[in-house]
Amino acid sequence: MKLSLTEIRQDPRLNAFIDQTDKYLKSLGYTDHGRRHLDIVSDRAKMIAKKIGLNEHEQEMAAISGWCHDLGNFLGRTQHHYWAGMLFSQCYINQADPKDVAKIIQAIVSHDKDDLKIVDSITACLIIADKSDVHRLRVKTKNMAEIKSDIHDRVNYAVTDNKLSVDPQKKTITLALKLDTNFTDIMDYFSIFVERMNYCQKAVTYLGYTFNLQINNIKLA
Ligand SMILES: [Fe+2]
Ligand SMILES: [Fe+2]
Repeated sequence: MKLSLTEIRQDPRLNAFIDQTDKYLKSLGYTDHGRRHLDIVSDRAKMIAKKIGLNEHEQEMAAISGWCHDLGNFLGRTQHHYWAGMLFSQCYINQADPKDVAKIIQAIVSHDKDDLKIVDSITACLIIADKSDVHRLRVKTKNMAEIKSDIHDRVNYAVTDNKLSVDPQKKTITLALKLDTNFTDIMDYFSIFVERMNYCQKAVTYLGYTFNLQINNIKLA
């Protein structure tokens, strides 16, 4: 069986994991890791894969990795990337081409791995797509006092626009953010997102591209 995002999205097992993840992370007060985030990461991973010239099957695998990468959070936050990879493998290792499953679970596990070593473009596409998703809409609480007191909420809430673009001619991948400085400043952004930007940098470099970061039209990297 050839894996397709349309079928994956309808799989009741994966949807159960995602529902349970929503419930668990809501109780911890985390930002969105549910279907909004998964759809954005899936779309972006596919867009990057297409722009860098991967074939349609690889683009689909990038999209599937994006939609499935966070579904292990309900089993524990710190190892959620391993849980997600294991769960995906349990569901599909006997149904799909093992080579495809291997690439997808490697991408999923790598998206938050400390000793990151990228050996596949699908992994790189997923990492860039995931680590670039910072936006006001990821903040779950509507309580302004809560938003201002939590740095993750505050920084996400401050980002009112987020565009990721890939230029195959110039070999650049650019993340352009609009940051509402009434809620946070650029230093706040970097104090929590430096790690994410390092992941992006590694993944973009693996693809042979240069990573650009722009905040409020200021080029920072
Ligand atoms: Fe994650
Ligand atoms: Fe994620």
